[in-house]
Amino acid sequence: MKNIFFSKSTNILLLSTVIFSGLSWNIKPEVDNNSDKPKITIDGFTFSDLNQNGKLDKYEDYRLPMKDRIKDLISKMTDDEKANMLVGIGMPGFDLNTFKFTTEGFQGKVPGAAGGTFELKRLGIPTVTVSDGPAGLRINPKRNNDPNYYYATAFPVGTALASTWNTELIYSVGKAIGNEVKEYGVDVLLGPGMNIHRNPLCGRNFEYFSEDPLLSGKISAAIVNGIQFNGVGTSVKHFAANNQERNRLGVNVHISERALREIYLRGFEIAVKEAQPWTIMSSYNSINGTFASERYDLLTTVLRKEWGFKGIVMTDWFGGYKDLKAPFTPNIVSNVTAQLSAGNDLLMPGLPSQQQAILDNIKSGKLTTAVINNNLTRILELVFKSPSMNNYKYSDKPNLKANAEVTRQVAAEGTILLKNNSNTLPIKSTKIPLAIFGNTSYDFISGGTGSGDVNETYTVSLIDGLTNNGFVIDFELEGLYKPYVIDQKAKELERRDKNGGILATAKRIVELELNKTLIESKANSSEIALITIGRNAGEGDDRKVDEDFNLAGDEISLINNVSETFHAKGKKVIVVLNIGGVVETASWKDKVDAILLPWQPGQEGGNSVADVLSGKVTPSGKLTMTFPENFLDTPSSKYWNGFPEENPTNVTYDEGVYVGYRYFNTFKVKPSYEFGFGLSYTSFDVANLKLSATNFAEKMTATVTVTNTGKTAGKEVVQLYLSAPSINTDKPSSELKSFAKTKLLQPGESQTLTLAINTKDLASFITDKNAWIAEAGSYKITIGTSSLNSKQVAQFYLDKELVVEKTNSSFAIDTKFSDLKN
Ligand code: BGC
Repeated sequence: MKNIFFSKSTNILLLSTVIFSGLSWNIKPEVDNNSDKPKITIDGFTFSDLNQNGKLDKYEDYRLPMKDRIKDLISKMTDDEKANMLVGIGMPGFDLNTFKFTTEGFQGKVPGAAGGTFELKRLGIPTVTVSDGPAGLRINPKRNNDPNYYYATAFPVGTALASTWNTELIYSVGKAIGNEVKEYGVDVLLGPGMNIHRNPLCGRNFEYFSEDPLLSGKISAAIVNGIQFNGVGTSVKHFAANNQERNRLGVNVHISERALREIYLRGFEIAVKEAQPWTIMSSYNSINGTFASERYDLLTTVLRKEWGFKGIVMTDWFGGYKDLKAPFTPNIVSNVTAQLSAGNDLLMPGLPSQQQAILDNIKSGKLTTAVINNNLTRILELVFKSPSMNNYKYSDKPNLKANAEVTRQVAAEGTILLKNNSNTLPIKSTKIPLAIFGNTSYDFISGGTGSGDVNETYTVSLIDGLTNNGFVIDFELEGLYKPYVIDQKAKELERRDKNGGILATAKRIVELELNKTLIESKANSSEIALITIGRNAGEGDDRKVDEDFNLAGDEISLINNVSETFHAKGKKVIVVLNIGGVVETASWKDKVDAILLPWQPGQEGGNSVADVLSGKVTPSGKLTMTFPENFLDTPSSKYWNGFPEENPTNVTYDEGVYVGYRYFNTFKVKPSYEFGFGLSYTSFDVANLKLSATNFAEKMTATVTVTNTGKTAGKEVVQLYLSAPSINTDKPSSELKSFAKTKLLQPGESQTLTLAINTKDLASFITDKNAWIAEAGSYKITIGTSSLNSKQVAQFYLDKELVVEKTNSSFAIDTKFSDLKN
């Protein structure tokens, strides 16, 4: 194996060395001979970071404006130090042979963190530590020679969070996650992930929120605001058009500017404008021929100039390389000049060869001072506001107990009731044993795999959750399932460990085969059968149609056998979908009485689901994407992740803006369950829609009164869809423009909700005019409890065409294709 040595010296007695030993990555800690620092008091302020002459440097004087301090700091940095500051410190403790974090060698400030910025000890500048995300903080729970544990809370996956449609609740989840980030000594959480669910098969959809940009943007803004409330940062990712995992580094996404702006960028725009994330992570893929991390139009023109983003952009890990071998191939370096000049300030996780290339390009003049000063200024602004720079004394004791309560509550609220014939749910009797089928009932999946997988202390299984909620479960079935699941899971984890570590593709455990006599006996002794169907996926690969989107033969047999046997005796069958992405439901949903969709609900999953099954919580989650009847009904289904199929280098988004319900509803394709759908144990009346005006001027509000007309307390989500005139431009039949959720309404109680829309909500992006334009004419507002279930309708008028926003011409296409039109 080849050893590549990289050493960088700073002006004092420090030596920082990054060693690549084969592919295993170690960074030697720096030696600090400077610990007893003298202090100086000026105007009652005490400063301890004095320079070697015992004086206070301007950049240390926190009374001065930030920009003057940073300017001073940059002026004191050597070119070598500048080049160092623009690349990360690698991944301490990460073994690139096995793709796993180890407890060997240098671990960095927080073991298991994904990386950090350069520590410039000479000038007292610490590392800013960044760590995954997004379903909680991902760090190593165990440390070398340390008896303590450093577990973090596994919160529900992004899709489950978004399914609450409750931005206030998501803000509180953000606050809880931020508490763990800060108290474990991390500065920036690498999340939330907010790519659009373009297709049900993207392996990382569970990390993302929705097929709709407005919902994605609002949920993202809420969680970012919550996390950053703690004084730590976020990295909203992956910017942009990273909607598949297969060959994610090497794939070139061909996409129209309209689809980009209306669908794939719009959510990021909302998050930036409403939450100012400290950082944004550029995506791996190319867009119309250029790596996202090298696109000036994406990272500077649109993100900074048009939207006003103030933070830094960092690459995804090894972004700017066409695959994961390239960074370790001699003489291959990402185009650092293109990346930094585009406004991608920080190259992560950072390679010695990139630092060298930056240095060379500074020397040759290819990288201008203006460019790197911009990058450095933004990085140093991040450093200056980080807890690390401010010597925050983190406790290593976040509020895990309180946060477990938060995750239990939010997972229950994100649970969606898809079907509930003859009030099968909530389950009334707790004395007769429940017959629990399906492997996953006994080993609940809290979240997906890959960098989005949190190292939590425990995951409450469905059976434990049910028992905790006072239900009695069938012991014979438990006795059969448990040993099978434990054995199969151990084998699966071992397989994953050996085959790609963090990037290994998850495999489903085949359902335990049960004979008919056993099922019969359970149908005699139980009133209710509960079957859990489980799915797992993650970073590095996409899902498949067979035995993944479509249920496998063994799963269908289980559903068939249990439902036929139980129904023959007049008993009920409930299916729980413990999944990270959409599955086919149309072919089997009629065979069961109730279907509950908690997604991957975090570490308290079993408790949360039992809270809903028992009726302690009335379900109020709504789908954030369409469940198609068949995979092929999805507009992008054909070659959805590109050509050639095994390792796609090119993918064309020729469905244009017709993603998800925008397609299904406009083209009148019947879904199995539509966007926005979700049942309740109670019923609601939505009435009295009033618009603030009949002619639109700048903004408009719609008020509507929701009344709980049932017998159980519950919450309802109202969704405002807008149908715009489509005279000059082809448009989806209606689009979500606002939503609101009621408080917990008691039977008979009402609440009036106000939903606002602004000028941009009326507009479509018109490419040849470089503008968002609202056409004159009549606009229809539909208030619904799903995208198809309309409750109230109203109309307003826009008298004159409005140019809502002028943009800069961007994202020129690199191949000819046309977007789908209605
Ligand atoms: C993922 C990012 C993640 C990063 C650091 C990448 O492979 O795409 O989402 O934040 O690794 O772990």
